[in-house]
Amino acid sequence: MTAGDLDLPSVIGHRGAAGHAPENTLAGIKRAAALGATWVELDVALTKDGEPVLLHDETVDRTTDAKGKLADLTLAEIRSLDAGARFSSSFAGERVPMLEEAIVEIASLGLNANVEIKPTSGREAATGRVVAERVAALWPQDRPPPLFSSFQPEALAAARRAAPDLPLGLLLRRPGQGWRQWAEELACRSIHCNHRNLDRRTAERMLKAGYRLLAYTVNDAGRAERLFNWGVDAVFSDYPDRILAM
Ligand code: G3P
Ligand code: MG
Repeated sequence: MTAGDLDLPSVIGHRGAAGHAPENTLAGIKRAAALGATWVELDVALTKDGEPVLLHDETVDRTTDAKGKLADLTLAEIRSLDAGARFSSSFAGERVPMLEEAIVEIASLGLNANVEIKPTSGREAATGRVVAERVAALWPQDRPPPLFSSFQPEALAAARRAAPDLPLGLLLRRPGQGWRQWAEELACRSIHCNHRNLDRRTAERMLKAGYRLLAYTVNDAGRAERLFNWGVDAVFSDYPDRILAM
């Protein structure tokens, strides 16, 4: 597993393929592949007992049949929840996947991934470290490594310490003054920006500074086309099929 040039696709399935299947589930990863996506983006956080699982929110309320903070639930408790039925009864029985299971699924489908480190409050460094360690240990050696990203510089710094060769991306809600300094300090390869807050001049500045540029979450093909015209390398989409059909 070596981090050569980032071989990015034009579209990355967001949280799997969140428009078509429950987000951050194995079913979502499979659906993304079936729709033609070659990369998926997944959010990873730690359970109470420090196990990395796929979950976007601080709580399980929105995406499962239970309520509670992830940081208060053990892996065994998390594993007993249904993470599919809220999306559609046809997905009932889906579980909150462990990071390990997601890696196996991604590898067996021949995909690559953007692993978004999504720490619950106060666990930034621990989450970055554990996620990077697990990926470094489990990712198939003969496949290009996944791209890590986070809104939290502390999580990226911990990931960098744990697995120095893994490529990092800086996640931004809006490109403020600080992006250049953080991206340099963390030796990031890419910048991932909310497309609503990105303009052509900023995109050009980021590309000129040598970063690959990714934009989230783009569900409209016309908007994706505009971003690609600015030089954006890849977009994250809940509907990767819409972008691939362009
Ligand atoms: O990684 C891109 C995007 O997923 C960041 O925002 O909130 O959807 O995780 P969010
Ligand atoms: Mg995300």
